[in-house]
Amino acid sequence: MGLALPFGDTVALGYLSMTPVELATPAILIALLVAVGVWSARNDGGRYVQLLRRGVVAAGVVLIPGAISVGWFARFDPDTISGITTTPAEQTFWFLSMSLFGAGLSMLAGVAAFGFGGWLSATLQNRPGPRLIIAIDGPAASGKGTLAKRIAAHFGVPYLDTGLLYRAVARDVAAASHGLEDAAAAVAAAKSLDASSLSDPGLRGPRAGDAASIVAKIPEVRAALLEYQRDFARNESRGAVLDGRDIGTIVCPDADIKIFVTASDQARARRRHLEHQARGEAIDYDQVLQDLRRRDARDSGRSVAPLEAAGDALRLDTTNLDPDQAFAAALRLIAGKVGTRTMMDLLRCDASSKNAK
Ligand code: DC
Repeated sequence: MGLALPFGDTVALGYLSMTPVELATPAILIALLVAVGVWSARNDGGRYVQLLRRGVVAAGVVLIPGAISVGWFARFDPDTISGITTTPAEQTFWFLSMSLFGAGLSMLAGVAAFGFGGWLSATLQNRPGPRLIIAIDGPAASGKGTLAKRIAAHFGVPYLDTGLLYRAVARDVAAASHGLEDAAAAVAAAKSLDASSLSDPGLRGPRAGDAASIVAKIPEVRAALLEYQRDFARNESRGAVLDGRDIGTIVCPDADIKIFVTASDQARARRRHLEHQARGEAIDYDQVLQDLRRRDARDSGRSVAPLEAAGDALRLDTTNLDPDQAFAAALRLIAGKVGTRTMMDLLRCDASSKNAK
């Protein structure tokens, strides 16, 4: 059975007799218009919508009268279409109607291609990027804080130094004139912790770290701080980097990447000692080493959430690495775990979120 469409044969025969170049030309034009749509939507979204609207109106203005006119001929004067018994005036009018209709259809196809380009651009831009939670644990002076901060900056995701929470609790307990071993006072301080006070420079330094290690032994203090840390990891749309002692084991056991940073006791003590010297503090290297070991023992030996590597953590020994080398090694570990493609996607999303600001 043949095509029942009016002018079906004519149209089909027309396409069959077209040369490849004639067939390719509209395809190239359409592809060009899609590309222009992508470019325009990316470049200036407002102008793109304006152009699209104008295109739809212009195509409608040409197409609708053309369609009405062609429809009129098809319905009331089919003879004109077959060209049998018609006057030259009718033939001319038919020819003009068809031209209008054809031009309108072409314009509509062009507008649709332009619109498709805009849609494609929006879809590509809104494609949800990967969301990575990176947990970095390790003992004091292992280099985990510097590393975590740098990884977060590299991927443009937020960073939480969870040690600051314990440091702030210890600060608040001491400020309320309680002893650091006073569990009730420490729990009260943890429950009323003001997150905006974490930028307090007084929280830096080994003395505050040692005090933090004491309040961190109290299970209720850890419990009071747990939700804050989990919320931080949960609420960030593109993921987050958290560093501490129990991130991979307790806070974010489902973290996509867990890195356990270590370094020999001597290397860590040397780094700490240099930091003291840079601040002009006269302190013996052996004393620093002893303090570090005491803190490690306290953090590793406590009953709740001790310092330990999660079973699925990747290990990074920074004993012989400077910060740049440690960072490069960590990126290699991350790439090995999630693949370079996800790494690129993370960077792409960071770039597009920065562009959107
Ligand atoms: O990472 P830091 O040096 O700022 O941590 C100070 C102390 O806080 C650390 O010795 C133990 C405690 N801490 C913890 O128990 N759990 C964490 N996730 C982070 C820190």
